[in-house]
Amino acid sequence: MTLKGKVAVVTGGNSGIGKAVVLELARQGANIVIDYVVHPEATEELEKQIAALGDQSIGVLADVSKVADLEKLIGAAVRAFGRVDIMVNNAGVETRTSVLDTTEAQYDKVMQINLKSAFFGTQFAARQMIKQGGGGRIINITSVHEDWPMPGNTAYCLSKGGMRMLTRTAGVELAPHNIRVVAVGPGAVATPINLVTMKDPALMQKLDAAIPMGRMATPEEIGSVVAFLAGDGASYITATTVFADGGMSPSLSYSGPRAVWTSTTLASSTFESGSR
Ligand code: BGC
Repeated sequence: MTLKGKVAVVTGGNSGIGKAVVLELARQGANIVIDYVVHPEATEELEKQIAALGDQSIGVLADVSKVADLEKLIGAAVRAFGRVDIMVNNAGVETRTSVLDTTEAQYDKVMQINLKSAFFGTQFAARQMIKQGGGGRIINITSVHEDWPMPGNTAYCLSKGGMRMLTRTAGVELAPHNIRVVAVGPGAVATPINLVTMKDPALMQKLDAAIPMGRMATPEEIGSVVAFLAGDGASYITATTVFADGGMSPSLSYSGPRAVWTSTTLASSTFESGSR
């Protein structure tokens, strides 16, 4: 148990990657603040699982696209557990719309939930970490699309590219306070955000062909990377992204199956999904 006694806040913590992160941090001994906006019953179920692991947790209803709610979230963590050691900016959505058809409302929603929440989540968590002393860890869940264009998912790519620079810049700014800021860049993960793809065997085949390891990740395979980065074993890693993508991003210059995968995304219907 490498995180015994630590306090972690996970945004969008009751489903998808967020849920796997919550459970792995709890397995490592951390007490957890689970942020959520929908499905309170899923949060309650998680709280029970965490109690069974011998850790404490609280669910907090907070819409992280609103700065006031983020402030409330960090405040709730401090009231319940007295401190914040680990902040995981995980909440995310995508609209699968192109630069030609994205509406202002879709653009704002994606940017607010993905990028603005990570920016102010970093700000409020870092202020608390500095106040309490002893450093901290901030982990941003980005994507291979922080760097690799996904045609037909433009606002999402913008938001993830912004999170990449947030990680790098805040990581440099906060290093003197011993606060490490790291991003985890997953490829395709079997979570609600990929439901449309997962329900379509032809799309799944194209996606799997685009991944050198030939399959999607499980959410747990991302949770374990986050737990490692939150621990002392990662004490010299900051201001960078660690990719857990089955080899997708190293094959960036290869335009075989990958090109086939990205060109299919425009064809899928517009939808909103995400880990909240
Ligand atoms: C996106 C998915 C996509 C995957 C691989 C993720 O970041 O949310 O829509 O399937 O990247 O391209």
